[in-house]
Amino acid sequence: MSGSLPVFPWDTLADVTATARAHPDGIVDLSVGTPVDDVAPVIRDALAAAGSAPGYPTTAGTAALREAAVTALQRRYGVTGVTPAAVLPVIGTKELIAWLPTLLGLDGSDTVVVPELAYPTYEVGALLAHTAVVRADSLTQLGPASPALVYLNSPSNPTGKVLGVDHLRKVVGWARERGVLIASDECYLGLGWDAAPLSVLHPDVCDGDHTGLLAVHSLSKTSSLAGYRAGFVAGDPAVVAELLAVRKHAGMMVPTPVQGAMVAALDDDAHEREQRERYARRRAALLPAIEAAGFTVDHSEAGLYLWATRGEPCRDTVAWLAERGILVAPGEFYGPRGARHVRVALTATDERIAAAVQRLADSAR
Ligand SMILES: Cc1ncc(COP(=O)(O)O)c(C=O)c1O
Repeated sequence: MSGSLPVFPWDTLADVTATARAHPDGIVDLSVGTPVDDVAPVIRDALAAAGSAPGYPTTAGTAALREAAVTALQRRYGVTGVTPAAVLPVIGTKELIAWLPTLLGLDGSDTVVVPELAYPTYEVGALLAHTAVVRADSLTQLGPASPALVYLNSPSNPTGKVLGVDHLRKVVGWARERGVLIASDECYLGLGWDAAPLSVLHPDVCDGDHTGLLAVHSLSKTSSLAGYRAGFVAGDPAVVAELLAVRKHAGMMVPTPVQGAMVAALDDDAHEREQRERYARRRAALLPAIEAAGFTVDHSEAGLYLWATRGEPCRDTVAWLAERGILVAPGEFYGPRGARHVRVALTATDERIAAAVQRLADSAR
């Protein structure tokens, strides 16, 4: 099975990682985008409080968790009309994305559409279900075809691009006409810098009708819970019920302590705001430093990454930065159109970001 999947991209960075690690002042790792800030005490306390529960969790999650997701979607993102039954907790959204086409029963006769530059797991999920995969950012690229599933990701990983309300409305209308399911990966929805991202479930996008729409939400970045494995999917009640029915058989249950932690994380906006402010500060330091070092930064109006180019093959740029002890991701990880860009994550401590800024300034002299 693994032979039918692409080479695991991060495994190809061993040499440049060694180069960056050899820097006398240590590596600044801006590659994977893993959170580095401690989990908020309010969340850790909730994890511990749920730690003595001996029984199996339910796949559907606790009523408290589904309710917390509903109210957080409304409070933070203006999403209305979601009921608790239309929410399903998942063991991190990578898991959901990797198995979504399989859980939906898609097969070789189906097509999954992913953005031209995309989080690689969309394609992996399609390959695991043996569907066809098409990379497309516009409906005209798809012609008269009716794919089974279309992924949206705004703000985008890797580009930080935000899809405007008109574009989102157009895609939703098009999908409705054809009975196409939309999965909107909203991992970075709360991280709008120069643009205001909208959920596909927002009434301005879908007129309050969630039919054929799924919003995928991760707590990994907003609450630094990547290690807990915590996310949820919400939207079309019939599709969510179908996912629940299959997942119950497959043992895809979020551990009870993590469910407790998720409730605390979704109920508390203060830590989420603090985390966003940390990333905003890091972006404010890194963006001008990258530009002053001769890079052009494209899109990047939201999300956790700077999408940068020096007008050369991405692996050359990765090597150039690694010589300065800075590790980033080659744009080609995300699709052929990323061949001349690199993705620079904002996920490093303030101290490491300051080190990167200094090294970039030294190289510009
Ligand atoms: C666009 C996107 N979707 C989903 C994920 C998966 O997040 P998790 O599995 O931690 O919920 C990531 C992680 O980086 C991502 O960038």
